Amino acid sequence: MAMGSIPALPAIAKKLEGKVALITGGASGIGAYTARLFCLHGAKVIIADIQDDLGNSVCDQLGPDAASYIHCDVTNESDVSNAVDHAVQKFGKLDIMFNNAGIGGKPIHSILKCEKSDFERVLAVNLVGPFLGTKHAARVMVPARAGCIIATASVAGVMSGAASHAYTCAKNAVVALTKNAAAELGRFGIRVNCVSPAMVVTPLATQYVGLAGEEFEAAMEAVASLKGVRLKVEDVGNAVLYLASEEGRYVSGHNLVIDGGFSIVNPSFDLFKKE
Ligand SMILES: NC(=O)c1ccc[n+]([C@@H]2O[C@H](COP(=O)([O-])OP(=O)(O)OC[C@H]3O[C@@H](n4cnc5c(N)ncnc54)[C@H](O)[C@@H]3O)[C@@H](O)[C@H]2O)c1
Repeated sequence: MAMGSIPALPAIAKKLEGKVALITGGASGIGAYTARLFCLHGAKVIIADIQDDLGNSVCDQLGPDAASYIHCDVTNESDVSNAVDHAVQKFGKLDIMFNNAGIGGKPIHSILKCEKSDFERVLAVNLVGPFLGTKHAARVMVPARAGCIIATASVAGVMSGAASHAYTCAKNAVVALTKNAAAELGRFGIRVNCVSPAMVVTPLATQYVGLAGEEFEAAMEAVASLKGVRLKVEDVGNAVLYLASEEGRYVSGHNLVIDGGFSIVNPSFDLFKKE
């Protein structure tokens, strides 16, 4: 989505004025949308990704005063450490860390066919990445006695049978990491939360499911609990904005599930469809 398609906000409506945010996986999908939304709300944003051309082009759209790109492989500790230091050097501090980078891994669901290397790669990006991001954000947030750390988990982190073993394990563990870090870091004034979206059209999900655009959304709507509305990256961005802003100032250790109630229903009972 082009920056121009989001209308300008009056100063009073800006929820992140003066804040500095680092977004991993900010070159695409949920991360790119959130970067635009954060800037719209007055934040300075560092996009940290491995897709350099895409990341730089998102930053170009946002402008050099508002956004800066840094190459960062979230599985590499010195890359993550450098990205945090870049935020502090470029914009003076780090208020918000959004550990969002992720991969779907291979859409192989039989454990007999899962390769150890794929399992380890998914855990490296989707779990070790948020661990490193949380660790290095805390390194600068603890002395500041303030900060907000948010991860992108998934409905696969709260229910079974929704994704591969590797992805499910990683996202369950991201929810656990979020809660454990919130338990530790609260005494320094740092809030730690995560969001857990259902399937939403992005390159990651399109590749995993093998469907795109309207076809993807129609397939998701067919199995959704909530009808008449389709999940968009905007819905995830808005949830992240809420957690990052003053509106979420007393929310910590929370997993904000964005799935229209999908994960709370066991469809095998078919209870309400009979009414
Ligand atoms: N799209 C969905 O249906 C969905 C649902 C639930 C959770 N999620 C999660 O949302 C997050 C964002 O994914 P998305 O759907 O926007 O997909 P996406 O593919 O559009 O974005 C993922 C981004 O992460 C980056 N990335 C991948 N490996 C990286 C690495 N090693 N270091 C740094 N960056 C890396 C990619 O380059 C890409 O820009 C992921 O954590 C994903 O697991 C997605």
